[in-house]
Amino acid sequence: MQLLTLTNLDRCTVKAIPPAHRVLSVNEMVADGLARTPKRLPPILFYDAEGSRLFEEICKVPEYYLTRTEKAILEQHAQGMVAGCAADIDLVELGSGSALKTRILLDALFAGGHTVTYRPIDISRSMLERTAAELTEEYADLVVEAVASDYDTGLAEVGRRRDRQKGFLFMGSNLGNFQHDEARDFLATVGAAMSPGDFLLLGVDLVKDQRLLEAAYDDAAGVTRAFNLNLLTRLNRELGADFDLQNFRHKAVWDAENQAIQTYLVSTVQQTVRLPEIDLRVQFGAGEAMHTESSHKYTLDGLAGLCREAGLSLTRTWTDDRGWFAVNLVQPVQPTPVSHRR
Ligand code: TRP
Repeated sequence: MQLLTLTNLDRCTVKAIPPAHRVLSVNEMVADGLARTPKRLPPILFYDAEGSRLFEEICKVPEYYLTRTEKAILEQHAQGMVAGCAADIDLVELGSGSALKTRILLDALFAGGHTVTYRPIDISRSMLERTAAELTEEYADLVVEAVASDYDTGLAEVGRRRDRQKGFLFMGSNLGNFQHDEARDFLATVGAAMSPGDFLLLGVDLVKDQRLLEAAYDDAAGVTRAFNLNLLTRLNRELGADFDLQNFRHKAVWDAENQAIQTYLVSTVQQTVRLPEIDLRVQFGAGEAMHTESSHKYTLDGLAGLCREAGLSLTRTWTDDRGWFAVNLVQPVQPTPVSHRR
């Protein structure tokens, strides 16, 4: 809260809107996930302070090519990406974590003489305040209007304003962490917030050699392993659980049927774990895998189909030399001109 630089307050607002749906507590999420067959833990639990730090470390390991490849694509093509933008534009970012990539687009927009309002939507108010303070410090002409809420509520809020062009950003292949139907519904919700002429820049990881994909989620230095196991450390701390980290191993496998990397925590022995805070004792069999994350990978045809299902159109793709990652321009479907209708 104290983070906003006073001098820039006139250019920063953070509007907090209560989420439309009740946000489940950690206790509820864990109780629900452990009661299922197969067991699972929701990926949102990864990101406590230590998990967020470990994820930043993952982005630096040589095997995890996603972040640096997406950044390289943006650096190479930012001008082309903003070429069609109106003089006055609202840049609506879904999540405020990718500020590094955002800066590349802001640089290109300001270099092109555009007037920009940055409107990040994120559930974390403190994250938004930090981003708003930093960006208004760096960009003397930038106005930040952040919305602290869930994506559905935030999109409805920014969608109310139809007087300026909106460019939506959803980067980091975060789309891949949704299941297929969720991804479609999410894209449709973005579409509902769009007016004709608005667009979405969507960064997604592409299907590639299985060994490269599996290595990206199981790096030799063990950072991803530590990231996955940190879930259990968190439950030990917050729920008084007694997970023995020696008895679980990290697993990342390519699931060809669903075109996704699936990550698991595998119990290496038969064991009982106690979670007193939620009044639970859980049995794990030897070799039993508990699911922690799906990370879907796309073909450009598959992504075009997903966009169509959401009522949107994939109109352009920028990729890297190796074709590992893609930043995509997604737009509302043009209405059929009246003269062509029968
Ligand atoms: N959203 C990132 C991804 O799917 C997060 C991530 C990186 C991750 N490595 C992981 C999630 C390992 C679970 C396990 O690429």
